[in-house]
Amino acid sequence: MCNSIALKLGSLKLDVPFFQASLSGYSDYVMRVLARRFGCPFTLADMMLAKSAANPRVLRKPCFRPAPDEHPVGAQILGRDPAIMAKAAADLVTVGYDLIDLNFACPAPKVLRAGRGGALLSEPDIVIDCLKAVRDVVVAPVMMKLRIGADHKPQSLDNFWKIVTRSIENGVDALVIHGRTVSQRFRGKADWELLAAVKSRFPDATIVGSGDIFNPAETLDLMKRTRLDGFLVARGAIGNPWIFRDLRCVWENRQIPPPPGLTEQRLVILEHFGRILKDYPERKAVRIFRKFFAGYLRRHPKRKPALIALMKSETRAEVETALITWYTDSSPNA
Ligand SMILES: Cc1cc2nc3c(=O)[nH]c(=O)nc-3n(C[C@H](O)[C@H](O)[C@H](O)COP(=O)(O)O)c2cc1C
Repeated sequence: MCNSIALKLGSLKLDVPFFQASLSGYSDYVMRVLARRFGCPFTLADMMLAKSAANPRVLRKPCFRPAPDEHPVGAQILGRDPAIMAKAAADLVTVGYDLIDLNFACPAPKVLRAGRGGALLSEPDIVIDCLKAVRDVVVAPVMMKLRIGADHKPQSLDNFWKIVTRSIENGVDALVIHGRTVSQRFRGKADWELLAAVKSRFPDATIVGSGDIFNPAETLDLMKRTRLDGFLVARGAIGNPWIFRDLRCVWENRQIPPPPGLTEQRLVILEHFGRILKDYPERKAVRIFRKFFAGYLRRHPKRKPALIALMKSETRAEVETALITWYTDSSPNA
């Protein structure tokens, strides 16, 4: 039914109205290409400090550059100095990123103490100066990530509306809005009604919603109810690339296939782990992969003992043995 809906992020056109979030510590090249393989049309790389991205030595490292097989891919930057944000954005486009996303949403205490991310929701002038500086130097689409305010006080809501209004007036290509305040962090439910109010006040702007996207079947109703242009997939994608396959089915009006069996899950986990092993020494790769295991294990019928076995593994061979033990459809552990 919704095949005709495509999402436009400036000149970037997506054939389905969702994409994968920037997820600090997770959304590396490996997670991004897996998401693509499962049907995600666009991904964002890990958030970068603008000051670092503006340093040519940093952008020389391959891990900070997009790979040829992952376009379109966006870069997200964090900062509060318009000139540094502009330099970072221009350099990131030069190394091949297809879109620039400005983060004014991050609630991490360290980021807030530095007056960056979500702290800037209380400083609309700086947000707009950063947007204008970036807009002036890049031709690629420019998007902004917001939360719905610093907190629920009237002044915060007022600042939020100022930022939304002025960023649209100043040519932002899309706003991605997480329906929680900074002080809420991840508590409570995302306020999609406020996101709907943004869309109804600015029907011509591209507004993408974020918050609690875990159930593909519910997204059609959510989009119909809020009339937003699209939605962001975040925690729901960690250790769960199948969410993109299922979302695509929903949006292309096809039946969602049955959930993957344990053996199928093992093959995907091994693919993910194998790609990390290419970039890191064995023991470090195992440690890096533990946080993804935790995501994959959410589907497991015997999550706790499987988690213990996998978290104890320190070598590639131990991980593979634990996976065979716990991720085989015909095994007694299934
Ligand atoms: C581990 C983790 C890391 C995140 N890192 C970022 C980030 O770097 N940039 C960003 O804009 N949002 C980041 N987010 C927020 C998500 O993009 C998203 O807005 C939020 O999780 C709400 O969506 P969800 O409820 O569907 O997870 C992060 C969230 C999590 C859980």
